[in-house]
Amino acid sequence: MRQRWQAPTGNVKPVSAEIRPADVVDEQLVAAMAALIPQLSSSSLPPTSTQLQAIVDSPDSVLYLAWFEGRIVGTLTLALYRMPTGMKAWIEDVVVDGSARGHGVGESLNLAAISEAARRGAKNVNLTSRSSRQAANRLYRRLGFVPYDTNMYRYTI
Ligand SMILES: CC(C)(COP(=O)(O)OP(=O)(O)OC[C@H]1O[C@@H](n2cnc3c(N)ncnc32)[C@H](O)[C@@H]1OP(=O)(O)O)[C@@H](O)C(=O)NCCC(=O)NCCS
Repeated sequence: MRQRWQAPTGNVKPVSAEIRPADVVDEQLVAAMAALIPQLSSSSLPPTSTQLQAIVDSPDSVLYLAWFEGRIVGTLTLALYRMPTGMKAWIEDVVVDGSARGHGVGESLNLAAISEAARRGAKNVNLTSRSSRQAANRLYRRLGFVPYDTNMYRYTI
């Protein structure tokens, strides 16, 4: 699916980003992820081309890219999988390049993922975000995500 977002003109620099699912893994994608992932996590290595290919090839994930003037300026991955209780949808690994933030690119990425999750039959979309991520939490709440009362557990292997 494609979704185009045009930022309003005014006191912000107008930016329009085109959101597209990645369908090929090439040097540009690998380099873009190598630049973006450190802006999301200091503890995760950027994905290799083989790892990216696995995401792109999987029917259970969509790797969205935000394009602006021929450059990849952001990414989001949507995970979709069927469970006994229904189709589950998770948004993961959302990051916009520091040079492109504040112009709606993150919003466009999320709206593309929500639309695809709805198209595939998910009844809701889940994500987590540390409260220290102020911009992200503000964005998600503005889009209509609401805190969900559950205990989040992690088993470290
Ligand atoms: C979160 C992130 C993806 C948002 O991308 P973006 O393209 O700037 O998103 P948008 O322009 O659509 O919206 C950003 C919102 O954050 C707000 N914002 C920006 N900087 C902020 C800050 N320091 N504190 C609080 N809010 C901030 C913007 O004002 C905007 O909200 P508004 O439109 O209601 O005013 C981007 O900031 C980012 O990559 N951050 C680092 C990685 C990260 O935290 N990822 C999320 C993991 S859960």
